[in-house]
Amino acid sequence: MQPLVILAPMSGFTGSAFRRLARRLGADLTWTELISAQMILVKGLDDPLLHVTDAERPVRLQLHGSEPRAILEAAERVCREIAPDGLDLNAGCPARKVVRSGSGAALLTDLPRLFEMAKGLVEIARSHGMEASVKFRLGFERDEMERIAETLLRAGVKILALHPRLAREGFSGRARWSRVRDLKQMVGKDARVYLSGDVKSLEDFHRAAAETGADGVMIGRAALTRPWIFTEIKAGKTLELKTADRIALLEELHAYADHLDAEQRLKMLKLFAPKFLKGVPGRRKLLPHLLAAESVEEFFTRLRMLDETHRSQTDQSPEEDGQLSGPPHHGGGRLHLL
Ligand SMILES: Cc1cc2nc3c(=O)[nH]c(=O)nc-3n(C[C@H](O)[C@H](O)[C@H](O)COP(=O)(O)O)c2cc1C
Repeated sequence: MQPLVILAPMSGFTGSAFRRLARRLGADLTWTELISAQMILVKGLDDPLLHVTDAERPVRLQLHGSEPRAILEAAERVCREIAPDGLDLNAGCPARKVVRSGSGAALLTDLPRLFEMAKGLVEIARSHGMEASVKFRLGFERDEMERIAETLLRAGVKILALHPRLAREGFSGRARWSRVRDLKQMVGKDARVYLSGDVKSLEDFHRAAAETGADGVMIGRAALTRPWIFTEIKAGKTLELKTADRIALLEELHAYADHLDAEQRLKMLKLFAPKFLKGVPGRRKLLPHLLAAESVEEFFTRLRMLDETHRSQTDQSPEEDGQLSGPPHHGGGRLHLL
């Protein structure tokens, strides 16, 4: 059976709008970025980070914190008022600010605390009819995957999401998929294992699935520059999107961001445009103009100029411009990739 295709959590990127886009393009499951339990307790749930729509479900909501009591209180509130499809604990984030506060990957150095948090989360999730997962790394300074996994299994965690690098490695080197295979063999039928790390293409997806037997394959950075990677996996073929198609995806992303104000939407577009346009001719020249746009309207006007310039330079007709059939996609047209 093909593993689940999952959008990995990425702080700053995987908000509601991008999760909706990923689902629409074929992801089976989405994941929020790490959300501070402390922030929830202090500020409540009225924050764009906690905006969840039905269109992005199933979605797992990821919490981070250093205090078991805070995590559990925040989890209870989230379950009652947002009702995500699953709860997740971050035990892998190596960012200095997070680790210094005693959360994220710092939990890998304090297994009794990790156990307490995971166990509490499992119980809360269960009482709301959902499952808890923990997303973690191989260890902080050295690989202690077996000890960590044993701790999580003992706490009753049924979904283990492993990014097989050490916290101190950040993103350097290669993700060690063989350790995901080891984990899968270790847990047997007691839990499901999701792999996260270095899956960048359709081919990687199949190789990761075959080499590890993972129940889910998470896609992070590759989804930022090729959100259609989910479609590629579902369709079983590689797609090359032309400029107009990529602009349509940015328009679609914008349409999904109706919970944000105009300034936040413009900021989001400026964040994603350089990624979605990666490899497009004329990108480097256009980007400074795009990033200087002062309104969403101005942003899209400038963006469309990129496509028009490109068309006139290459003298391509819309039919030739891309392998996807259908009319040009400007003006809110939607790509039907699946
Ligand atoms: C910008 C960025 C932000 C991330 N934020 C989170 C996060 O909030 N929670 C988390 O568990 N992992 C986070 N990650 C890690 C990813 O989920 C994933 O495990 C990692 O990027 C490896 O997968 P990839 O090679 O597919 O990107 C982040 C990664 C990136 C690049």
